[in-house]
Amino acid sequence: MANFTDNAVPANDETDKIIAVNINRIYKVREKDSNELVEFQALKNVNMTIKKEEFLVIVGPSGCGKSTFLDMVAGLAHPTSGEIYMDGKLITGPALDRGIVLQGYALFPWRTIRKNVEFGLEIKNIPKKERTKIGQQFIDLVNLNGFEDRYPHELSGGMKQRVAIARALAYDPEVLLMDEPFAAVDAQTRETLQEELLRIWEKTKKTIIFVTHSIDEAIFLADRVVVLSTNPGTVREVINIDLPRPRDGIRASIEFGRLRQQIWELLQNGQQNTTGNSVEDKAV
Ligand SMILES: Nc1ncnc2c1ncn2[C@@H]1O[C@H](COP(=O)(O)OP(=O)(O)O)[C@@H](O)[C@H]1O
Ligand SMILES: [Mg+2]
Repeated sequence: MANFTDNAVPANDETDKIIAVNINRIYKVREKDSNELVEFQALKNVNMTIKKEEFLVIVGPSGCGKSTFLDMVAGLAHPTSGEIYMDGKLITGPALDRGIVLQGYALFPWRTIRKNVEFGLEIKNIPKKERTKIGQQFIDLVNLNGFEDRYPHELSGGMKQRVAIARALAYDPEVLLMDEPFAAVDAQTRETLQEELLRIWEKTKKTIIFVTHSIDEAIFLADRVVVLSTNPGTVREVINIDLPRPRDGIRASIEFGRLRQQIWELLQNGQQNTTGNSVEDKAV
């Protein structure tokens, strides 16, 4: 864990990629009955350090602030208080050093697969010839060769999700931010995509923050799992996943089952914590 004092840039360990310091996020919401604006705390005192090349997975019940946190790392939203640093520099907005993959594919329907994947390269003004070459590399990496000239509506959900991953990787971000990217595909495709993502991660050495509410998905993918509890969203626990890699066949292991049970219980307790006893804040 990084050491830091209030209002100071945290001491950046060489192996740290992203550091979130005392993050709070308060939304103003309209109360049902009175229609008055009241404050709602979505995230409370969240501290997190993500290591270079780490695969970090955030799990937690619906509404615990997973997307809110990821959007802030992306620079698309801002904490009410607290800061997020990448390589020691304050994140103030979105940039191409962070690639985003969302649940709903968010592909451009009027662009072919090739043109979707090349999108970030166009923004970076990469010349056409090189763009085509790089784009093709990533189309191959996600096993979509042969589909370059199709349009998104001609592909299955799993294939669209692969396009979204290829598009995010093609402009070579250092960090990949993934918000429930596989939630909309069937169970079997989901496992295939998880395996492919691990293969790509091992090949490309990206730092990944992956959000899910599937416990199995979290354990299968992660180096560490951050369990958030809700109302307000706080870090409940951080669990090292010391399972060997590659992880093919690991779901049937005793250790996997033990981790599944452990995280399940943490999520149960996190939700049932309505006694007013605040769960001790944990720094990741
Ligand atoms: N723009 C917003 N305005 C008001 N409340 C919001 C807004 N975005 C999210 N929230 C609330 O903040 C909490 C966390 O939301 P979110 O980060 O989307 O959770 P998760 O991704 O874990 O399901 C939820 O209770 C949600 O209703
Ligand atoms: Mg969400």
